[in-house]
Amino acid sequence: MTELAQMISTLMQSRQTILPKRLVAPGPDHTQLETILGAAASAPDHGQLTPWRFVVVSEAARPKLAEQFARSLLERDAQALPAQIEQAKEKAFRAPLLLLVVVDANCGDTKIDLFERIVSTGCALQNVLLMATALGYGSALTSGKALKSSGLRQLFELQEQDHALCFLSIGTVLSRKSSRVLPELDRYLFHLTATEGIARGNVPGGTK
Ligand SMILES: Cc1cc2nc3c(=O)[nH]c(=O)nc-3n(C[C@H](O)[C@H](O)[C@H](O)COP(=O)(O)O)c2cc1C
Repeated sequence: MTELAQMISTLMQSRQTILPKRLVAPGPDHTQLETILGAAASAPDHGQLTPWRFVVVSEAARPKLAEQFARSLLERDAQALPAQIEQAKEKAFRAPLLLLVVVDANCGDTKIDLFERIVSTGCALQNVLLMATALGYGSALTSGKALKSSGLRQLFELQEQDHALCFLSIGTVLSRKSSRVLPELDRYLFHLTATEGIARGNVPGGTK
């Protein structure tokens, strides 16, 4: 393996989800943030649509998001206890940097479907996560039912074609879990064979 490949492999393996409650100040500074979010631009992007966008939730706007998390919870469960409502609100204040990740299902060439757009956005996110890791920051993607609530969609001024995919949090790592066991390649590698249909298999020896 080349030195570059070794470095990239180490970087990829050192990225892990650090949940927002374990991400504290300081977050990235302005220049670092430009580098981190700028890494998204190198993602494969069929039709060069830039179907993703990131919306930074400023410190000043966190209370608005907290209120929305509480409203979303109460819409789903009118019997939610005060402690559960507080917990829902508290999520808006975690991590020094919090962004909503949005995918546009319609911009540009409409022949490029939502699946492709989500794949591009996933690649963009992986670039962002790896760059944050390379700069020494922890990061997490988080989802949740609130993402689909009409109130959250209104808060972020989402249009009909917009999908709120997940939140992205970045910050300094307070503590981390031990890294997980990664799946073996044979769990996700298959071959189309001439005679036996699809078979699990090893990495082919090489290409012609
Ligand atoms: C789109 C997306 C949404 C996610 N949402 C959550 C979430 O809501 N809560 C959570 O604990 N982890 C969430 N994760 C993180 C995964 O659970 C995590 O990537 C997985 O467990 C593998 O761990 P690792 O990232 O440390 O390798 C999300 C990941 C993705 C890609």
